[in-house]
Amino acid sequence: MIENIVEIDQVWSEHKVLMSAIEAEIRKELRSEVELVNKVAQYIIDSGGKRIRPLLLIISAHLCGGTDKALITMGGGILEFIHTATLLHDDVIDNAEIRRGISPARVLWGNQASILVGDYLYTLALSLAVKIDKYEANTVLADTCLKMAEGEILQLNHNNDLNLSEQTYLQIIEHKTASLISTSCLFGAIIADAPEVENEALRSYGKNLGMAFQVADDTLDYMADNDRLGKSLGEDLKEGKITLPLIHILQNCKDSERIWIEKLIGNEDFFPDDLKKMIDLMTAYGSIRYALKRAQDFSDTAKQDLDSFSDSLHRQSLFALADYVVQRDH
Ligand code: IPE
Ligand code: IPE
Ligand code: MG
Ligand code: MG
Repeated sequence: MIENIVEIDQVWSEHKVLMSAIEAEIRKELRSEVELVNKVAQYIIDSGGKRIRPLLLIISAHLCGGTDKALITMGGGILEFIHTATLLHDDVIDNAEIRRGISPARVLWGNQASILVGDYLYTLALSLAVKIDKYEANTVLADTCLKMAEGEILQLNHNNDLNLSEQTYLQIIEHKTASLISTSCLFGAIIADAPEVENEALRSYGKNLGMAFQVADDTLDYMADNDRLGKSLGEDLKEGKITLPLIHILQNCKDSERIWIEKLIGNEDFFPDDLKKMIDLMTAYGSIRYALKRAQDFSDTAKQDLDSFSDSLHRQSLFALADYVVQRDH
């Protein structure tokens, strides 16, 4: 394992000027004539969020020698708009009652408004991308939106599917999550007019980071502190979403336990005691440990993807982010 020297808090503070510029860009672009669009979009954007995708773009651009502030701020805004659109849609699909510690937009304005404002944000992102006037950036972003939609559809296809394989699970998360995280890094390299070999290294780093990120997210669903997570535990189980810790336990538990687990999957009415028993079983079978190890493996591979870059503050920052995604608690 490659050790990193830079701490995650340092990474955020190192880039706070550009991160603030991206926040300003987001607010500047959110000026629809239709008040409901601004209200719903502003609400979710103001509700927080780690802004990890814009941060990855900034660092990747810098690593490749790119410093164009206008391009970086616009790129960061585009990524956050796409991400926000997917969250609006995701909360409708998942029937979520909580997002970032507060009520999701769908609870306040309804599912229809959430879907339509999500569509608006997707389209806004793509219309801003055209202004960047880089053919490669446009194709990469459009392909990513397609992949993300495919990921959500594939996931829907396998809802409540007790026989979901680890391989198909990995395909789902690569599409729905890792594609945008990968593109955040690649987009930074494209903005910097980096050579193809650097584009490819950052694309691959971002993909592996994104895989680690989603596997960790899926594991946090069974082990996090509710308040820190800003979402409720056990949601995936309730929604019938089959994720890595669940796949592992289903493949390793006794028949009698499998029958009990089957009854819980997709069951809206299970009790806190059931969740506790489930988490205890997952701990006993090493399912949480297994998923965390898989996340750690992806994080280690992400670091190896940066082998071709010489040591620098920015490379170390990307290492720190690779550690952060598997150690985070929210
Ligand atoms: C949430 O992404 C959706 C997933 C891909 C798991 P983030 O964890 O980046 O969400 P925010 O923006 O920080 O709330
Ligand atoms: C991430 O999946 C969805 C997106 C990529 C939008 P989840 O459904 O696991 O995300 P959370 O847990 O609701 O944030
Ligand atoms: Mg969700
Ligand atoms: Mg989740």
